[in-house]
Amino acid sequence: MKIYKTENYDKMSEKVASLLAAQIISKPDSVLGLATGSTPEGTYDCLVDWYDRGLLDFSEVKTVNLDEYKGLAPEDHNSYRYFMDQHLFDRVNIDKNNTYVPDGLADDPQKLCDDYEKLIDGLGGMDVQLLGMGHNGHIGFNEPGGEFPMACHCVSLAPRTVEANKKYFASEDVMPKQAYSMGIGTIMKAKKIFLVVSGEEKAETLGKVLHGPVTPEIPASILKFHPDVTLIADAAALSKS
Ligand code: GLP
Repeated sequence: MKIYKTENYDKMSEKVASLLAAQIISKPDSVLGLATGSTPEGTYDCLVDWYDRGLLDFSEVKTVNLDEYKGLAPEDHNSYRYFMDQHLFDRVNIDKNNTYVPDGLADDPQKLCDDYEKLIDGLGGMDVQLLGMGHNGHIGFNEPGGEFPMACHCVSLAPRTVEANKKYFASEDVMPKQAYSMGIGTIMKAKKIFLVVSGEEKAETLGKVLHGPVTPEIPASILKFHPDVTLIADAAALSKS
């Protein structure tokens, strides 16, 4: 695993954006696997800034997102589709028909998951997968457990995840407790992975990811088995590694 340690969150965001920009410039029709959450917000702001300055062209880029809350409509302000529109898609020249996020309102969860997996394979897989990491080591919404879920699936959120994400909702009661997520197998099929981690509160888990055993109890630990992973983390996140 290649590791970039940056002084702070802003420098981390610039570094991730520059790696993604290099990907888009070298392969304009790249398939980017994208992530939500507070971690990549600064990265998306950088990409939008460089687009505004005429340095980037998203017209041929395709994107597939990691996950979506079950039960949320695309226009719901807490849906990950809405997040992506607000933070990136509505701010650059990407063709929205080439942006994919699981449908939180799907009638048939299993069919949704099977179709999403097929869609990704049909696109030729992700050239790059951007990943944040939950406080408990989750990637996408692959929560700690007894095994690594392979394909796209519906997941019940871990209490630690509900705790971390409830701040975005009016109350914990209205926050969905289930979500759709790419599986670990789906993520591992990406040609390249950028793992992005910020903040001291994730330092202990990141230390376990880097130095502990590969275990489904810490889903991100599987990334050590991927041949092309780059970790971009700020000094606070790496303070226990
Ligand atoms: C969320 C998302 C993940 C994200 C992670 C970290 O719940 N499902 O894709 O990477 O948890 O979120 P944050 O960056 O806000 O800490």
